[in-house]
Amino acid sequence: MKSQIVIAIDGTSASGKSTNAKLVARALDCVYVDTGAMYRTLAWYCLRHRIDVQDARAVAGACRKWKAVLHCVDTGSLRAARLLVDGYFPEKEIRTAEVSAAVPHVAAVPKAREWMVKRQRECLQFGNLVMEGRDIGTNVFPETDFKFYLDAQLEERSRRRAADGVRENLAMRDQRDSQRAVAPLMVPLGAKVINNSNLTSEQTSGLIIAEVRKRLADK
Ligand code: DC
Repeated sequence: MKSQIVIAIDGTSASGKSTNAKLVARALDCVYVDTGAMYRTLAWYCLRHRIDVQDARAVAGACRKWKAVLHCVDTGSLRAARLLVDGYFPEKEIRTAEVSAAVPHVAAVPKAREWMVKRQRECLQFGNLVMEGRDIGTNVFPETDFKFYLDAQLEERSRRRAADGVRENLAMRDQRDSQRAVAPLMVPLGAKVINNSNLTSEQTSGLIIAEVRKRLADK
């Protein structure tokens, strides 16, 4: 790959964004960025510091104050960008039910989103990116030629979450993500939509990899 590229993977909850984004990042030697983890880290920080996640001013204040910096790790099989808070990546802590319940509130705060979008764009310093989230193709890197939108039937997505041991009201989460005022979840203009209800992750990531290679060859 000659010039720097960003592969944007957006989509609904449990549509396979993380699994596929990692497979694509490995196959195309890109840095993987999980932007949901960044919002979760802010929610975790607020809970830990007793900051009311429903108080937009307080959440915006937390973004001004917290000592959060980007870092690129190489785990051997994957290079990934992470947000460290006071030098620490709360990998397990951000996956609790408490953080899952708090994160849509912080993700709806405009100042928090501004802060996140800046950091997400700064990830370019690490190289070519595969970035997954809800607003990557619409808002963070709208100019990229590589946009994908993943979805699957609600029953299939709920089954996947349950298989991960997580019980979650995905319909409610999708509604919140799609209806919030700032950067709502939507299909980005020019995105290739992949409904993977009946596809394996190898098939889904294979479609993305083939499409990226084709678009690169056409350039
Ligand atoms: O993908 P996830 O479940 O880890 O995302 C956590 C929350 O963050 C979810 O409510 C959607 C929100 N989010 C967002 O608003 N924008 C992003 N780019 C990524 C996640």
